[in-house]
Amino acid sequence: MKFDTPATSNPIDQLKVVGKPVDRVDGPLKVTGTASYANDRHDVAANQAHGYIVGSAIPKGRIVSMDVTAARAAPGVLAVVTADNAGSLGKGTFNTARLLGGPAIEHYHQAIAVIVAETFEQARAAAHLLKVQYERAPGEYDLEARKEGAKLAESNGAAGESAVGDFAGNFASAPVQVDATYTTAHESHSMIEPFASVAAWNGDQLTVWTSNQMIAWTAGDIATTLGIPKEKVRVSSPFIGGGFGAKLWLRADALLAALGARAARRPVRVAMPRALIPNNTVHRSATLQRIRIGATRDGKITAIGHESLSGNLPEGGPEAAAIQTRSLYAGPHRMTANRNAVLDLPEANAMRAPNEAPGLAALEIAIDEMAEKLGMDPVAFRIANDTQFVPDNPAKPASNDPQSKAGEEKHNPNPPFSQRQLVECLRLGARRFGWDKRSAQPGRVREGRWLVGMGVAAAIRDNLVMNSGARVRLDQRGTVTVETDMTDIGTGSYTVIAQTAAEMMGVRLERVVVRLGDSTYPVSCGSGGQWGGNSATAGVYAACLKLREAVARKAGLNAADAVFANGHVRAGSRSVPLGEVAGPEGLVAEDTIEFGDLNKKMQQATFGAHFVEVAVDAATGETRVRRMLAVCAAGRILNPKTARSQVIGGMTMGVGAALMEELAVDTRLGLFVNHDLAGYEVPVHADIPHQDVIFLDETDPTSSPMKAKGVGELGICGTAAAVANAVYNATGVRVRDYPITLDKLLKGLPAV
Ligand code: MOS
Repeated sequence: MKFDTPATSNPIDQLKVVGKPVDRVDGPLKVTGTASYANDRHDVAANQAHGYIVGSAIPKGRIVSMDVTAARAAPGVLAVVTADNAGSLGKGTFNTARLLGGPAIEHYHQAIAVIVAETFEQARAAAHLLKVQYERAPGEYDLEARKEGAKLAESNGAAGESAVGDFAGNFASAPVQVDATYTTAHESHSMIEPFASVAAWNGDQLTVWTSNQMIAWTAGDIATTLGIPKEKVRVSSPFIGGGFGAKLWLRADALLAALGARAARRPVRVAMPRALIPNNTVHRSATLQRIRIGATRDGKITAIGHESLSGNLPEGGPEAAAIQTRSLYAGPHRMTANRNAVLDLPEANAMRAPNEAPGLAALEIAIDEMAEKLGMDPVAFRIANDTQFVPDNPAKPASNDPQSKAGEEKHNPNPPFSQRQLVECLRLGARRFGWDKRSAQPGRVREGRWLVGMGVAAAIRDNLVMNSGARVRLDQRGTVTVETDMTDIGTGSYTVIAQTAAEMMGVRLERVVVRLGDSTYPVSCGSGGQWGGNSATAGVYAACLKLREAVARKAGLNAADAVFANGHVRAGSRSVPLGEVAGPEGLVAEDTIEFGDLNKKMQQATFGAHFVEVAVDAATGETRVRRMLAVCAAGRILNPKTARSQVIGGMTMGVGAALMEELAVDTRLGLFVNHDLAGYEVPVHADIPHQDVIFLDETDPTSSPMKAKGVGELGICGTAAAVANAVYNATGVRVRDYPITLDKLLKGLPAV
């Protein structure tokens, strides 16, 4: 179905199942260890061999020679696949770096071989027998050093910039000014489940069981890379232990499993060791961000400018951290720029709310700094600069990121927001959090050795929509089975899809079976950019509408009058059990929701306000987050329990970005040094004592028939700045370089 006019009332509005905080339908499988993750799939193909990936020991240059003789002769070895014998490989649409390097090397730990053996240990042992001679070429690894005159990546283009009015003139003449530079660190996704794949060939037909967020993209990229028809590739990924953006694309594990299986003539499993992941796969680029804000003395923004520099391989896109500054606050004179310097580090790409997460981490400190200069409360300052129209909507897409939409026709430079309850989020949050107890003067609240402070930040994250298909089947027992290639990356897709089908067909949740993550199912929106929940359920809605018509027709009822409830379809005085209508052959329907241009006529975005209280040890600078509150306005909440889990997960990631997460670059060797979970720190339960989430009542009929929006990434947007602002309020030390580690606080702390 086409979705190009706002939704009117529909069966979802009954909210008998949708909107209820039901438990995850896949929960029992998860807690009993029976959900089949990629590396657990011993069952899918007999006689599996093991592949071990060898990563390049240099970041840039060439392989001069590679001697595989000893490795090939090692016990149990079945094949050694390198660029020399892999055959010609194309390059998929979504990867910036080649997944099998050689002779040219583009980044450290780029795969240069996969060793296939009877056991994992044999493959690993043989990997150490590979003799490789490299010739190193000079490379660029330091983003800070690229600040001036950096060679910009090809993808940067004019699309990364926007301008409204006369920013420079009005900033210069503004009575109150903030001009500061902020940095965010290179970050690693660090999802719990590493990359893993099992690949098996049956003649020219390839099946890959893997862990991936976007089934159709990945099946397509496997086909492109191997030079085989897409129909010959099946991808299956029913359970995913977190993706965080790293699994949006085909990565080396899946490709090398396929190549290894072809060479060894056996099914091959490749599980990537944790220590290979940060340099072999993908990360979020560090950013350098300069923000300038000019305001009147009574607190109105007159000029706002945000320039961001990130780094990537030559064909990679920017971390467009200035993007939200086009739409979060009012102000007549504006500029943004998202620049991208060429770096020879591993590929940078989407991670945990790309763009807005690091962008708001900077912008929302700058806003705090301006409020302080004005002597205004930071909540009141944000409210005073609210806007119900997008002040800066450039005609071009912001980047070549596949997530951003190209080709905007009928461009409106100032579209209204379809819904914008940022002010309501801020007001309610301030009340619930006890914001009135915050000291406007920093460094004034002391509890023994602890300096205590509160911080606030606004959150905005776009609501993207993506076409999404599904197939629904009704059987003789009255069971509804949904099939779509949508994935569940731990987000709750199984559950909200089951709720949608149950609501639409008038059956209990237990009567719905959901099958996900297989390329033999209809192509969905996949999981990314927080579009999954709304778009995938909208696709299921569309398919269920068709199934309802088929049921009514077969039952001899008028589809327009038919009511689906309690496992029956009824019209007038006739009521028939659904299973009886389906009969022994069952009934099947399939459809795809196709989104029109409603999201161009209005800016669909989600909003939130984050409140954080921290305590900083006055002697050591150790920061403890004490409590967090997020108030979110994100359309209809399909399941308050899974949505809450999404948001608190995002808030936790925000604490990571604020206080811990940093891939440290060795700028001589050109690699991320702390490439494991011992050296790369993420928050654990003990770091997060108390989190609350409040969802405002909201339905957005312009976003889909579900009237829902994305919510998963909203939780990380702004959170880091709320932590940073709380640390400042506690200590009076303004740290503008993330993560806020204790060394950055110590020199400013009071004598104990
Ligand atoms: Mo998300 S970073 O688009 O998976």
